[in-house]
Amino acid sequence: MPSSAEDAPHPDPDGIVIQIAGVETVRPLRHLVLRPGRPVDTVHTLRDDEPSTWHLAAFADADVVGVVTLFADASPHFPGRRAERFRWMAVHPGWRGRGIGRLLMRRAADLLHDQGVEVLWAQGRDSALGFYEDIGFTTYGDGFIDPDTGIGHHIVAIDVEDLRSAGRTSETVES
Ligand SMILES: CC(C)(COP(=O)(O)OP(=O)(O)OC[C@H]1O[C@@H](n2cnc3c(N)ncnc32)[C@H](O)[C@@H]1OP(=O)(O)O)[C@@H](O)C(=O)NCCC(=O)NCCS
Repeated sequence: MPSSAEDAPHPDPDGIVIQIAGVETVRPLRHLVLRPGRPVDTVHTLRDDEPSTWHLAAFADADVVGVVTLFADASPHFPGRRAERFRWMAVHPGWRGRGIGRLLMRRAADLLHDQGVEVLWAQGRDSALGFYEDIGFTTYGDGFIDPDTGIGHHIVAIDVEDLRSAGRTSETVES
């Protein structure tokens, strides 16, 4: 887990600040976006309590507008390489399409690089595969239905160095 000292605030030109955050900061947006209408405890997971788990939040002033959670987990498609997995990737509905998801992933890649992590992967919702592929992830294998949500998913994965450079020159965030 990166230390918050390695993640000093540096706002993008339009004022979105992405920082390491506590789990209580990221859970409300997780719930709103990924388990709407379900009990709040559906966004509490055992991995949240592990010391190696960490979270990033995107702030617009004091508002949390994007979140993601990361933890060490071997990648089925990159055996032998040091990997982390992410879950609970969510951008507030009112802030989508402005580059916040890309910023979250890129900041994660920079911090993972600093930790010597080589691969980032996830079980991506099929509705978000276009996002992941747009920022450089590769989709692997057959799709599957998540038993908790009934939503279709595929494995997505990327070399951390490729994610660090994804779209560096074309990024824009409008506010
Ligand atoms: C998926 C999600 C995180 C993307 O966040 P975002 O801030 O809107 O994404 P960005 O603005 O950074 O988009 C980056 C690029 O991906 C594209 N993109 C974003 N969402 C997309 C989608 N669902 N399908 C296809 N392309 C998408 C954007 O058009 C953009 O392309 P561009 O750079 O060529 O303009 C957000 O839509 C979301 O929270 N969705 C609901 C929750 C969800 O599905 N989370 C993922 C769970 S695995």
